[in-house]
Amino acid sequence: MALSDWLLGKLRCPLGGDPLRFDGGALVAERSGRRWPLAPEGIPDLLARSADPGARAVEEANAIFHDAHAADYDLETARPDECYGDVARTLDRLRETVSGPGEVLDAGCGSGIVLELLRSRFPRVAGADVSLGMLARCARFHGDLVRASAARLPFEDASFDGVTAYSLLHHLREPADGLREFARVLRPGGFLYTDNDSNAAFHERFSWWLAMRRALKSARSHSPEEVARERLAEYHHGTGLDPESLRARLLGFGFATVEVVLSHPPRPDEFTRLLMELERHAPAPSLHYYFRLIAIR
Ligand SMILES: C[S@@+](CC[C@H](N)C(=O)[O-])C[C@H]1O[C@@H](n2cnc3c(N)ncnc32)[C@H](O)[C@@H]1O
Repeated sequence: MALSDWLLGKLRCPLGGDPLRFDGGALVAERSGRRWPLAPEGIPDLLARSADPGARAVEEANAIFHDAHAADYDLETARPDECYGDVARTLDRLRETVSGPGEVLDAGCGSGIVLELLRSRFPRVAGADVSLGMLARCARFHGDLVRASAARLPFEDASFDGVTAYSLLHHLREPADGLREFARVLRPGGFLYTDNDSNAAFHERFSWWLAMRRALKSARSHSPEEVARERLAEYHHGTGLDPESLRARLLGFGFATVEVVLSHPPRPDEFTRLLMELERHAPAPSLHYYFRLIAIR
């Protein structure tokens, strides 16, 4: 499937911001003349690598790690009703808030699970990811895709009515770089919905349990290089993120409201069930493994 004129009209060179036009097998920036290749599926490769070596290493680890897992990602992850039922309900609610044309970007779209939920709810949907392997999975059913980093999105300002980022923020070395870009590409009144990032308060309190679970899981055989790459790709997975400081960043980037919703894993094990019971008696942010952010620009 090919890129539509709709998305082509919004594309901008991620280094400099000039409009892009097709020229043979590439996209060319109108003023600078910089050329961006098309990847095998015809997906524009607009990945502008970070100038910061640490952030660049994390992005590269993500691209390689997710390329390697693209083929079996859906098998490992997708139990659509259990994991994504709540996402579908959240998107239904957000759809009601949109007053613009209903153009939505899925940042870190992976194999396209959320992209599919968006396609049935919004008239125009685009996906962006650093992994060409993941994007190739999406290309089986969707054309409006770009290879790009959430930290340097190749879109014009105020291009979208909504941005979704499911299980993305913990993959960014500096999540605020993504949040700043989401604010830039959203129209006033547009929504940002992030989800499935783990909560630092939970990690601090239950590091013993997480370490035990990790030890049991590490029975899977991986080479030391693969383990190191996975750690780099899942940059904040071992420590979690602080939703309150992300909320403060979002307000600083011009969002009008930010809702933080703490949650338990969608498939609770015995330990989680115990925490859920505890939570009924003594609610505390540190009892929740995950959080979502819903922000209105
Ligand atoms: C855990 S997967 C989630 C995929 C999808 N959102 C879902 O719900 O199944 C994380 C995705 O984020 C992508 N990713 C990691 N770093 C990124 C970045 N800097 N910019 C864009 N995508 C990134 C990965 O390649 C991967 O596809």
